[in-house]
Parts: sequence; structure tokens; C-alpha cells
Amino acid sequence: MLKTTLLKATEASGKILQQYFNGPFEVSSKSTVNDLVTEVDKRSEAAIIAIIRETYPDHFILSEEAGEIKTNSTIKWIIDPIDGTVNYANGIPICCVSIGVEKDGEMILGAVYNPFMNELFVAEKGQGATLNGQPIHVSRKTEVAKSCLVTGFPYQWEDMPNNPLQMFERVIKAGIPLRRLGSAAIDLCWVACGRFDGFYEHHLQPWDSAAGALIVEEAGGLVTDFSGNKYTPWQKQVLATNGHIHTALQELVNAK
Ligand code: IPD
Ligand code: CA
Ligand code: CA
Repeated sequence: MLKTTLLKATEASGKILQQYFNGPFEVSSKSTVNDLVTEVDKRSEAAIIAIIRETYPDHFILSEEAGEIKTNSTIKWIIDPIDGTVNYANGIPICCVSIGVEKDGEMILGAVYNPFMNELFVAEKGQGATLNGQPIHVSRKTEVAKSCLVTGFPYQWEDMPNNPLQMFERVIKAGIPLRRLGSAAIDLCWVACGRFDGFYEHHLQPWDSAAGALIVEEAGGLVTDFSGNKYTPWQKQVLATNGHIHTALQELVNAK
């Protein structure tokens, strides 16, 4: 069963993250000096891919460090072996493994596991979302002004209208608490379980959001881009809320 393999891979990765936490491990840079990849990202990724291929050698895999392992399968595993690598490399225990499964272009399964808090978020299309096996639901807040929000910044500065700093400034000037944890997958899961009421980020990759977005939706929330279009893992912008504050947060994010 897909879910069994998903959970096995998530657990194996979580053990590796714990085993190497605080190092020493090799760290190198990717797109910018602070866009990091560690030896542990690669170990985690290798373990996840090996587990998937054991049972499903023909499935398509898209993983952050390995790239695409293309097949003709309609099932695609979308993997972030460590989301929050900068946190991980600095010994900050806000990081996780994130694995989503897409079938015929639709997300059907997702798991996000932060082994340092022992929090495993899982969602299955149409079956709801859970945290350590218990059903979770988004918050009930209806006013964006009374919300607690979270965001993230891209590794490379985006010099565009409505860039991340301008949006950040608007939310802060409105007096709304806005956090920045450093892991988009955890941000999304914390919207799903009601710790945050909303999340937005400008430039995410499919592996950052695939599992977390399904977890938000299955917990009763709403995920779109900044224009309100329905979520797909291939969009860069992600706006995820409890649903109640979605339009108001969208307006705030897009204000001039
Ligand atoms: C990053 C984290 C971070 C977000 C970045 C992502 P990584 O993923 O999700 O919160 O702000 O945009 O790239 O590099 O740690 O896997
Ligand atoms: Ca990531
Ligand atoms: Ca990563």
C-alpha cells in the first residue's frame, strides 16, 4: 500500500535526521552561499528513494537533491529530504522530511515528520489529516487582524513589485503577528493544526509544499496562489489559510 511505504520512508528519514543532528556533517552551497545542502539531506534522500523503489520500482520520483527519476507511471513521489536545511545545519530543531504522492496530477497522500518534536502529520485525499494519528483541523478565527501568521523568504532576493519585504512590512504595520520558522512544510502543517491561521510565501518548489498543502486542505483549510487560483505543486506562490481569512489575507498580500 502506498501509505505504508510513505510512512516507512518518512520514519527512516526521521531517524537519519536525528542520528546526524548537530553534526559533524559536510555542508555545501547551491544557488547562493546560504542555500545549503548537507550530507544528511543526501543520506535522507537515498534512504527514502531506496524504500520507495523496493516496492514501487516503476514510480516517478521528483526529489530536491536527486532531481527527476522519470518513468511512465502516473504516480509521482515528491520528496524534500530535509525541509529547513538552514535550520538543520545550525542545530535548530525546526526541520522535517516532507513526502507527497501525486496521482494523475492530483495530490493523494502527504506526510511531514519533524522528528525533533516527534510530530508526524499525514493526509490522504478525502480522508482528513492527522497529527500523530489524531484528527486535526484548521483554526476558527475569522478576522485577519486577530490572526497569527507565518511566512518565509526565498534564498535569492526577488526585486519585484510586492516583494517579500514589502508584504512583510504591510503585515507588521497592520500589527499582525507574523512568524518566520524556516520550513515551509512545517509552516503549512502548523496552519493545518490551527497554530497559525495563515501562511504565504513567494517562491516555493513542489517539494516544499506538496505534502503540506494536502495536509492543510484535508484539515479543512484553503490553499491557492496569490491570485486565488487552486493549488498545484507546480506554482511558486503559496497562500494557505483556515479558509475564513483567505480573502482578507489575499487582499493584504496583494495590496499596494
Ligand atoms: C526552504 C524552506 C524555507 C523556505 C524556502 C525553502 P529547504 O526549503 O522551506 O522555509 O523559506 O523557500 O527553499 O531549502 O530548507 O529545503
Ligand atoms: Ca524545502
Ligand atoms: Ca530541502
